[in-house]
Amino acid sequence: MKSTEASNAYVVRTLMGLESLVCEELNEHGATDVEPGRRSARFSATDEVLYRYLQCTRLAVRVLRPIFSFQAKGPDDLHAKALKVDWGQWVDPKRSMALDVTVNSEHFPHDQFAMFRLKDALSDHFQASSRARSVHHLNINRTAPEQLIHLHIAGDEVTLSLDLVGKDALFKRGYRAPKARAPLNEVLTAGLLGLAGWKPGETLVDPMCGSGTFAVEAGLWTAGVPIHAGRRNWTLFGMPGFQAQLWREVGEVAREERIARAPILASDWNKHPVGDARESVRRSGLEHLVRVEVADFLDLRPPRGVEPGLVVLNPPYGQRVHADDLENLYGGIGGALKHRWSGWRAALLFPKDLEAQHRIGLKPSAKHTVMNGPLACTWAVYELFKGKRIDHLTGDVEGAETAASDPASSASVNPVGEEQEEGATVRFRRPRIQQQGEEN
Ligand SMILES: C[S@@+](CC[C@H](N)C(=O)[O-])C[C@H]1O[C@@H](n2cnc3c(N)ncnc32)[C@H](O)[C@@H]1O
Repeated sequence: MKSTEASNAYVVRTLMGLESLVCEELNEHGATDVEPGRRSARFSATDEVLYRYLQCTRLAVRVLRPIFSFQAKGPDDLHAKALKVDWGQWVDPKRSMALDVTVNSEHFPHDQFAMFRLKDALSDHFQASSRARSVHHLNINRTAPEQLIHLHIAGDEVTLSLDLVGKDALFKRGYRAPKARAPLNEVLTAGLLGLAGWKPGETLVDPMCGSGTFAVEAGLWTAGVPIHAGRRNWTLFGMPGFQAQLWREVGEVAREERIARAPILASDWNKHPVGDARESVRRSGLEHLVRVEVADFLDLRPPRGVEPGLVVLNPPYGQRVHADDLENLYGGIGGALKHRWSGWRAALLFPKDLEAQHRIGLKPSAKHTVMNGPLACTWAVYELFKGKRIDHLTGDVEGAETAASDPASSASVNPVGEEQEEGATVRFRRPRIQQQGEEN
C-alpha cells in the first residue's frame, strides 16, 4: 500500500468518560503522540493510519485537523489576523462551507459574533486574493456543507481547524430505524461496551434492547466492519493532498478482517422496539450474528450452550414511570441478575441521582460516569457470582458454592420477591409499567 510517511497532528472529539478508550483505540490503529484531553485526544498520524482510523473508529464523534493558530484579543483582532492566513492552502472558496464555533474567553462574550467576524475575514481574504478573483460571495451551506471549518477560542488562543468528517458526526452510523424511541447514542453505546470490558468474541445479551443499539454496535464490532468506509461528502475528500486510492485500499484491507463469532442476543418485552431493532440489524447486514426476540427480562434465563458473557441493561427510568414501579423494576433486575445469571458479568446504565438504584442490591466492581445526552448517568459493572462476595474475592470456591445453596447468603442482594431452587419458578414482584406507553 502506497503511503506518505509524514505524520500530521489531529484532534479527536469524543464523549465524556470515553477519553482513555479513545486513546487505546488510536494506539491500536498506529497513531503516535497520543494524549488525552477533555472529551478529546490529540494524536499524530500518517495518511494511512488516519484513513484507517477514520473508517473504523467506534468512539470518535469528530476528527479535526488544526490548520492555523494565533492569539487574538477580541472579534476585530480575530478578523485582522484571520485575514492574513493563507486560506487558499486549505479551503476552496468555490465549494460550499459552514463554520462552527466553540468559545471560552472573556475577550469574546458572543460566540456567534466571533464566528461572523471569521466569516467576514474569509470572505475579505478570498475577494482580495488573486487566485480567486471570480469569488464574490462565500457559498455558505449549513445543512450539507462540503467543507466544515471549526473556530476554537480559549482565552486569547485561537485555533482554526478543518473538521474532516463534515456535518454528520460519526455517531450517525446510518442503521437506525427512523422511528426508534429513546435510543442510546451509538458512540456512547460502543464506549459503554468498552468500559464494561466487552470484546468481540464474548457472548452479549441485551434483555431490554429497545431499538437494539448495543446489539448492532457489538455486531458491527464483531464482524470487523469499517463502519465509516462508505461515507460521502466529508471535508477530507476535497482537501488538498487527499489520496483517494489509498482511502479505497485501506477500506478493502479493513473489510477483510473478520473476528471469531459469539452469540449476540437482544430482547425486549415490547414488540414495537423489537421491530425497530430487527430493522437496524437487517440494515447493518448482521442477521447472521444478532438474534432479537420478544421476552420479559424477569422471565428470561441465560441462553444454553454458550459461554457466559456480558449482560447489558439500559432500563427505563423516565418521567412516565411511577416511583414505586421503578423501585420494583430495579429490585427485580437486581434479583434476576443475582439468582439467574451467576457466572456472567452485568452492566447497568441509570441516572446518577436515581432513587431506585439502591434496590439493585448488588455491589458493582466498577462504576463509570457518562453523559447520556444531558443526563449524568452511572454505568455500573457487576461480577455475578454465587454466594458471598468475600468468598469470591478470596477465591474460596467451596465457601461460595456452599453459600449459594444457603438462602441467608443472598443477603447482599435485595430481590423484590421470592427466589427458589434453580429450575423451579422464580417470582419477582412485577412493576406495573405499561409496555405500550413506557419510555425513558
Ligand atoms: C431505555 S429503553 C432501551 C433503549 C436501548 N438501549 C436503545 O438504544 O434503543 C428501555 C427498554 O426496556 C424495555 N423494558 C422495560 N422493562 C422490561 C422488561 N421487564 N423486560 C424486557 N424489556 C423491558 C422497554 O420496553 C424499553 O424498550
